[in-house]
Amino acid sequence: MSTKPFVTLGIESSCDETGIGIYSSEAGLLSHTLFSQVEIHAEYGGVVPEIASRDHIQRAIPLIKESLKISNLTRQDLTGIAYTQGPGLAGALLVGSSIAQSLAWGLDIPAIGVHHMEGHLLAPLLAQIKPQFPFVALLVSGGHTLLVEVGGIGDYKILGESLDDAVGEAFDKTAKILGLGYPGGPALAKLAVEGEQGRFNFPRPMTDRPGLDFSFSGLKTFARNTLTKHPDEKANIAKAFEVAATETLMIKCRRALEQTGFSTLVVAGGVSANTSLRQVLDQMGEKLKVDVHYPEHEFCTDNGAMIALAGHYRLMAGQANDGYEIAIRPRWNLEELQAI
Ligand code: KG4
Ligand code: ZN
Repeated sequence: MSTKPFVTLGIESSCDETGIGIYSSEAGLLSHTLFSQVEIHAEYGGVVPEIASRDHIQRAIPLIKESLKISNLTRQDLTGIAYTQGPGLAGALLVGSSIAQSLAWGLDIPAIGVHHMEGHLLAPLLAQIKPQFPFVALLVSGGHTLLVEVGGIGDYKILGESLDDAVGEAFDKTAKILGLGYPGGPALAKLAVEGEQGRFNFPRPMTDRPGLDFSFSGLKTFARNTLTKHPDEKANIAKAFEVAATETLMIKCRRALEQTGFSTLVVAGGVSANTSLRQVLDQMGEKLKVDVHYPEHEFCTDNGAMIALAGHYRLMAGQANDGYEIAIRPRWNLEELQAI
């Protein structure tokens, strides 16, 4: 008789996406479903936390039902539940955590709180060709810009981070200055395609001194000042911003690879969807003989599959929450995680 596979349901609700994923020890990712609140928040020009929480409440359970249906499973087939415990918006996290803990309690199965950035970091492991440990990870999202030395799952040492705006935030703020909609990252990238490279030269912040930290808040000011002088050159400004941001990231990745001696780079988080960033990093990888891995496009931005996967590894290693109390960690340092 064959043993039952271990099946983990993942719930992501840290910001403005409700994401559900189901991962099986036998068949890998069985399904993932997503509802993005982007259009709801667009009219406010950014995420409104209270609206985000209320929408997660409405979406999560129907999405879980849909995911189970797509996977040809019932609730009783689940053997573990993973949810984003932090970092993120407190109210939004509470929704995922409450649903996960209640469901786990009702089914009498273990639950595990997952670090959102660990989810992003492990998302490339959902791809066909998986990165091998150890590697350097560049995590680039709306809330974080991190360079991490990764020895294995949970073995994380932060090599550098942004001292002010995250790079995704810098994309979003610059897009706003250019009058583009929310979320700004993809809109700015689209406009930059029409821009002329080299028309404006923006700085590469903090690349002229040693170290692996970043600072992106100055770039938006540079964009604003350039726009005041050249109001008709939005595409050229978008291009200059994108080139400066992506080259800065590349320079720091190169440094981190040299410093660690590692030959694999993993790039994840919303900004890893950016085509220019991928081009710049692929070129660097070719020169340095470094393998560069990205998540599949749908797993770059927030999703439930990455949470299911990260939780799955931890549950399989015997880790689980102590009980079913609803605990969230809106602020949570990646280095505090337990290695498995
Ligand atoms: O990882 P993510 O979905 O959410 C957070 O954890 O923050 O990342 C969202 C961020 C936003 O700032 C968004 O503008 C940016 O990723 N982003 C992009 C692109 N797609 C998403 N930035 C630049 N180019 C893109 N193609
Ligand atoms: Zn994220």
